Formats: sequence, C-alpha cells, structure tokens
Amino acid sequence: MSPEKCLHQADGKERCVLQDRQDRIFVALDLDNMDDALRLVDRLGGIFRSYKVGMQLYNRVGPELVSRLHEEGCRVFADLKFHDIPNTVAGAADSMTRLGVFMLNVHVAGGIEMMRRAKEAAVKRAEALGIPAPLVVGVTQLTSTTQEMLNQEIGIPGTMEETVTRYAKLAKEAGLDGVVASGHEIQAIREACGEDFLTVIPGIRPAWSEKNDQARVMTPQAAFAAGAHYLVIGRAITAASDPRAAALRILEELERDR
Ligand code: C5P
Repeated sequence: MSPEKCLHQADGKERCVLQDRQDRIFVALDLDNMDDALRLVDRLGGIFRSYKVGMQLYNRVGPELVSRLHEEGCRVFADLKFHDIPNTVAGAADSMTRLGVFMLNVHVAGGIEMMRRAKEAAVKRAEALGIPAPLVVGVTQLTSTTQEMLNQEIGIPGTMEETVTRYAKLAKEAGLDGVVASGHEIQAIREACGEDFLTVIPGIRPAWSEKNDQARVMTPQAAFAAGAHYLVIGRAITAASDPRAAALRILEELERDR
C-alpha cells in the first residue's frame, strides 16, 4: 500500500494516518520557551500543523504546551523517548494519551514487555476517554549515531541496518505502530515489517541546509521517495533566518519532485 493512502489498523479499528505530505511533516519545536514555540507555529501557519514536542521544550513548559498547540488546531508528536521499567513507561504513555497527543514514542531498547505495556496503556486510556489512540512508535537508533559509535562505543555488533531492522521487528512484535529510524533504513524496515508499519524519519536535511550533529541524514524528497510515512524536520526550518521561507522552499521542492 502506498504511504500516500496508508490506513492504519489501530485497536482493531481502521483509521487514516495523515495523507498529505505537508501534514506528514512534523516540525521539531526544539526551543526554550512557550512564546518562541507559539510564535514559530504562528509564522508557519497555513504551511504546517504537525509539531514535534521534545524533551527540551516539554521539560520547560510541560503539558500546557500540548493544550496550546491543540487550541491552535495542531497535532502533536510527543517525542519524549520513554525508556524505563514497563510499569513506569505504561504510566507515562497513559499520561501522554490523556493529553490527546497524535503520536508518542518509547525506546525499543527497553524491550518487548515495556513497549507492549506502553501501547496497551495508550489504547486503554484512549478507549476510556473516547478519543483516538495515539500512534506509539519505537526509537531504533538515534540518527546522530554512526556505525563506528554503534560498534565501538555502544558495543552493538553488526551493521546499523541490521540493528535497526532487528529493533523494528521487536517493535512490531510488541504491537507498536512503527519506528523512528533514519531514511537510510526505510527500505530494510519495509521489507522486514511490511509497508503499513510506520516509519518516522528525523535527520532530514534539504540539500541547502547544515548537517549539524546528525550523522545519517536524507533530503525530504529522498525520504518520501523511499517510503517514509512521517518526517521530522527541526533546524532546517527552526534555525533558518526566515523559517517561513525555509518551510515554503521545502514544500516547493517536494512539489517539484512529485
Ligand atoms: O534539527 P533536526 O532536524 O536535526 O532535529 C531532529 C529532531 O528529531 C530532534 O528533535 C531530535 O531530538 C529528533 N530525533 C532524532 N533522531 C531520532 C529520534 C528523534 O534526531 N532517532
């Protein structure tokens, strides 16, 4: 099934994941305070309405930010990368579900039981509240991790692709909706887990932007062409001198590429 029309089987119910490329791009709000975040959202109004809230901003301003983004008509990916004992992570997933987030994530390295409990807690809370269950995705290997780091520093043998594929299979076994990985692993994940298993791709860099601390980067066009369901774009937009112009340039390039 093409990612353009993908349907996601959540909790036995069929529901659409986002279809338009524009809505499948989450802008990473890696900023220091609520005002800056809301100002950026305002500047990107009419272009993007999907935002990723990560540990930098969430740990400063907390759940109120999620409510404010919802008031602005945005959907939120809570990128808090939970990784703890299963009971604690289930509680964290429950808490984020109460906030009505569209997507949340946990580290695959926490193991199958931890991931399963997170997903179950999200589904249970969503049912109790009568809201759509958030997508729960697993972080495989960070896009800042290189092959050398993986083997020499972290001590995981084999290639990056092997590790990411193995993690993706674990996430699928645990009942998660998909994984976060680099664009370079999309193909292997699709082959191992099927094309409906969601791929959320950070480390996105248009050809004209800085790589920064990311190691495994890919352009938005290449990531969508490889079958990515969702992209995460941060500094290429947020650190640009004119974020709105950068956002429009990205969309124009995607449009040209269709
Ligand atoms: O600024 P940049 O586009 O590099 O931001 C990427 C965002 O995606 C950051 O918020 C980072 O925390 C997040 N992320 C990542 N690699 C992962 C998972 C999340 O870069 N594997």
